[in-house]
Amino acid sequence: MASVAELNFGACSSSRKATSNYSSQFSYVSTRLSHHRRVRLRPLPVPRSSSIQCSVTSDQVQAPVAVNTEDPKKPECYGVFCLTYDLKADEETKSWKKLINIAVSGAAGMIANHLLFKLASGEVFGPEQPIALKLLGSQRSFQALEGVAMELEDSLYPLLREVSIGIDPYEVFQDADWALLIGAKPRGPGMERAGLLDINGSIFADQGKALNAVASRNVKVIVVGNPCNTNALICLKNAPNIPAKNFHALTRLDENRAKCQLALKAGVFYDKVSNVTIWGNHSTTQVPDFLNAKIDGVPVKHVIKDNKWLEEEFTEMVQKRGGVLIQKWGRSSAASTAVSIVDAIRSLVTPTREGDWFSSGVYTTGNPYGIADDIVFSMPCRSNGDGDYELVKDVIFDDYLWNRIKKTEAELLAEKRCVAHLTGEGIAVCDLPGDTMLPGEM
Ligand code: LMR
Repeated sequence: MASVAELNFGACSSSRKATSNYSSQFSYVSTRLSHHRRVRLRPLPVPRSSSIQCSVTSDQVQAPVAVNTEDPKKPECYGVFCLTYDLKADEETKSWKKLINIAVSGAAGMIANHLLFKLASGEVFGPEQPIALKLLGSQRSFQALEGVAMELEDSLYPLLREVSIGIDPYEVFQDADWALLIGAKPRGPGMERAGLLDINGSIFADQGKALNAVASRNVKVIVVGNPCNTNALICLKNAPNIPAKNFHALTRLDENRAKCQLALKAGVFYDKVSNVTIWGNHSTTQVPDFLNAKIDGVPVKHVIKDNKWLEEEFTEMVQKRGGVLIQKWGRSSAASTAVSIVDAIRSLVTPTREGDWFSSGVYTTGNPYGIADDIVFSMPCRSNGDGDYELVKDVIFDDYLWNRIKKTEAELLAEKRCVAHLTGEGIAVCDLPGDTMLPGEM
């Protein structure tokens, strides 16, 4: 795999080295030398005798091949962690597509633990799409990251061709076609929201720089870590060589939550609910749009004739669902977030159903609605399935909807001022509205 050299932090454990004919579907790079990781994640010198390349399946074992250790860019392989295989042959025999690299941050966390297995199973990118997973964790989570990689390994997914793990985004994001940025610090007791924006903003500034330096020029980035809209803005501002349009903040979970509540109220199964937009911020100011939404092709307001419920209960239920869930679970939603990441990706890689759309937090500059430029704002999108999207033009607004949109816009503009030092726009001024929160802050 392309990233083996970059992610090669040192010699692997002896038990792994002993199994050089290991029958794995993929390779991952690891180390137990945590003190080396702490210093700097660069390849450590390894005895030449440990450099081998092996075939990936037991029935295709090739004789170990000496690696070109003269070329610093060539991977130094360490036993099972750098098995290589002839993917081209697989592509020919199985009509597989070209391998794609998917980087996931926060990879040792709960959301990723649901997501990675969905990605590896083929349910996201399809049964003909082999993938490489590049997992970014932290120094603290590194052992857990190894555990994740081991579980992926034990799952024998045919489409999962490579797994690499690391804690340096410049190495893990190398050649990434997708970057799913989940890892972020949760707000701790006594932490001001501005403090959270600053801490997480710095993470996303660094990751934006890393993507800019090493990812595919057309990488698609989905930011999940909160506050996701502003983190996405910070990330894209630090990645000037990647189109701003390629950055998304995840609001698909909010859309799914809204669909569920509308279905429940109307007494229909939720597949009957369509055209639901979440406008704005993934926070308690977000606006679940019931004006344009439909149930069985009919405007929601013609089906649910309880305007008070729509404006008050429904709206608040969606806005605060994440917080209520934290109260029940004692932690943020994980499984449903992972499902919504899957939905968000699939919405970009499969054509949108005729007449329908999906919500995503995207860059506003040039939007047709009159929303302020230069923020990341959830809006209705359509895709022809090529990974790109266009904004839906034929939506309507009334005073209620527009006033709410202005409120969530004001919040995002305030968040933007608060992170000006991270977007290269000068000195930060933090005047966040006091009455708004992340869904989980209740
Ligand atoms: C959610 O909507 O469930 C999460 O974003 C809540 C949170 O703050 O973690």
